[in-house]
Amino acid sequence: MISAVGNETRFLHAIEMGLGAWQWGDRVVWQYGRGYTDEDIQQAFQVSIQNGVRFIDTAEIYGSGRSERLTGQFIKGTDQPVLVATKFFPLPWRLTGNSILSALKGSLERLGLDSVDLYQIHMPTPLLSPEKMMGGLVACVENGLTRTVGISNFDQSYMLRAYSTLARHNIPLAANQVHYSILNRGVEKNGLLARCKELGIRLIAYSPLEMGLLSGKYGLKNPPPGNRGARYLNILSKIPPLLKLMTEIGQDHGGKSNVQVALNWVICKGAMPIPGARMEIKRCRMPVL
Ligand SMILES: NC(=O)c1ccc[n+]([C@@H]2O[C@H](COP(=O)([O-])OP(=O)(O)OC[C@H]3O[C@@H](n4cnc5c(N)ncnc54)[C@H](OP(=O)(O)O)[C@@H]3O)[C@@H](O)[C@H]2O)c1
Repeated sequence: MISAVGNETRFLHAIEMGLGAWQWGDRVVWQYGRGYTDEDIQQAFQVSIQNGVRFIDTAEIYGSGRSERLTGQFIKGTDQPVLVATKFFPLPWRLTGNSILSALKGSLERLGLDSVDLYQIHMPTPLLSPEKMMGGLVACVENGLTRTVGISNFDQSYMLRAYSTLARHNIPLAANQVHYSILNRGVEKNGLLARCKELGIRLIAYSPLEMGLLSGKYGLKNPPPGNRGARYLNILSKIPPLLKLMTEIGQDHGGKSNVQVALNWVICKGAMPIPGARMEIKRCRMPVL
């Protein structure tokens, strides 16, 4: 149940699903440049737009700005309206409210935009209080550089502090972007999802496919490339029964894929999934269970 959604943030609640852009330039986790290029990424963007996606989630830190540059380039090349969300990363040498405003100006330059639709704090830090961070976001709104503001990876107590601080400036906390998937249901257990619904904060679900695992294309014999393989080593041996069940559910619903089942699950829980995509699906490795 959504009870407290204001006019300024209503548009976020109307978006069923977005597209994550971490893969667009990231070499460390996603191995950008090894196996996929800007052309592949552009195709992933175009196919997403053709299929109705209108919300891109990027961050200044993704590919050290490359993701924002590619996002800006792609949206300039489409005639469809695309909403953009990006994020401030609290690096230890940027710990004042002012650094948030200047970081957003840098993001806008890379995106080639005058303003974004959602500006988020990428994660909390013990070095800068939620109140100070929100002060920085207030300045971003007051300067007309973002339509709404949000947070990411904030637990419930930090989220409530952010919410109250913004409320004192009559600014709604639009979103909290957190890890949420069939395999990671912490936000249900710790009450964050329920509290977001109660306060009209859109819960944006990152890694809704558990970094590709829920697609069913990876297994113990062919783990995902790069450091994802080590990260998910323990889980890979345990998920075949879940993947099998998801495949059966998909088949019972008109032949839907595991990816569709996983994303629909998040949507039905009342959150907005933002799956990442680095290439058009026909070029992805096919499922091996
Ligand atoms: N705020 C934060 O701290 C934070 C943290 C993580 C992510 N995020 C955001 O959330 C977004 C999504 O999370 P994520 O990228 O970590 O993981 P994800 O969305 O769970 O998984 C993305 C991966 O799933 C696979 N995939 C996607 N569509 C597919 C399809 N149709 N068929 C088969 N496989 C498919 C691809 O794997 P392969 O690449 O192996 O082909 C893709 O790279 C990110 O891009 C980013 O915008 C935010």
